[in-house]
Amino acid sequence: MTHRICRIPGDGVGHDVMEAATIVLEALALDIEWVDAEAGWCCWEKYQNTVPAATWKALESSRCCLFGAITSKPGIPGFKSAILQIRQRFDLYANVRPCKAYAGVPLNYRDDIDLVIFRENTEDLYSGVEWKSLPEEMFELHPGLERFRGQEIAGSLRVFTRRGCRRIVRAAFEYAQRKGIESVAAVHKANVVRETCGMFLEEARAVAKEFPGIELQEPNVDAMAMWLIKQPQLYRVLVTTNLFGDILSDEAAQLVGGLGFAASANIGDSYALFEPTHGSAPKYAGQYKVNPMATLISARMMLEWLGEEAAADRLERAIAKTLAEGKVRTYDLGGSDSTLDVAREVARNLG
Ligand code: IPM
Ligand code: MG
Repeated sequence: MTHRICRIPGDGVGHDVMEAATIVLEALALDIEWVDAEAGWCCWEKYQNTVPAATWKALESSRCCLFGAITSKPGIPGFKSAILQIRQRFDLYANVRPCKAYAGVPLNYRDDIDLVIFRENTEDLYSGVEWKSLPEEMFELHPGLERFRGQEIAGSLRVFTRRGCRRIVRAAFEYAQRKGIESVAAVHKANVVRETCGMFLEEARAVAKEFPGIELQEPNVDAMAMWLIKQPQLYRVLVTTNLFGDILSDEAAQLVGGLGFAASANIGDSYALFEPTHGSAPKYAGQYKVNPMATLISARMMLEWLGEEAAADRLERAIAKTLAEGKVRTYDLGGSDSTLDVAREVARNLG
């Protein structure tokens, strides 16, 4: 079966890592038809639109997307992040971020870390419902605002839906069940942010009842940030809200080699996008310096999602072998090999 995959390098080192992923995917000799498209800062400069119409068409015509990295800058009127728009338009509600310590990675904090973060991906403070200054009606809506009267105020609305909470928690429990994992930690701050996190926690408890073999843990997000440093090996699946997941996933990535290993899948009911979670690192653009592992691990998740289990396993073993042998390494791992050298070594190790 031909897989039509939309390939978006994005900006900066997005191009470097996409070239690396292409080398490895071509070496697997699957039936892939690439649909090339552009998005990100490059498009903002050209069209004042980070996702032009042709890119939406390319995405819509494909089965899934492999995405590089993009540059986003604050404070530019009208600018909307390409990746946030794609996540929201395609309703890619589950942002799945594995953090596994591969043998041979000198930056591992411990060698027994193997956890996956399920981050809600469409709601929360990322909804884009914001005010530069609050209209008078808002003061009437909530007496809690009274103490800020007279100040210059900005507001961002933290939107949660019951459906949104339920489906991300369910995705985490289903994953735990498939992998035979015995506990899921639902990370929240319901003692303070009572309505939104309260709803998230209620849904976590309701979903947990459907999975009697799996224990639900309920750490507060601040404590979780600490536990990730103290005893990360005790956790296998975390499920949390959009902003908390954004933060905790960078923290967790640092435990297993840093952003060079931070892979992700953005999964909805009928579409998915796979991307390394590092930025576009403009200063390294085109230098083939950065570690392609985050993109290669994302590509492995893509193959799994496409049902190419055998190819996904081969790629996973080749990644693990390349890292364990440590013969070819990018600068972050103490080496001086290029992004593409690593990709070619992984391709050789596919066996
Ligand atoms: C991530 C990134 C994005 C996010 C940015 C680039 C909008 O930090 O994927 O974690 O905050 O979701
Ligand atoms: Mg992030």
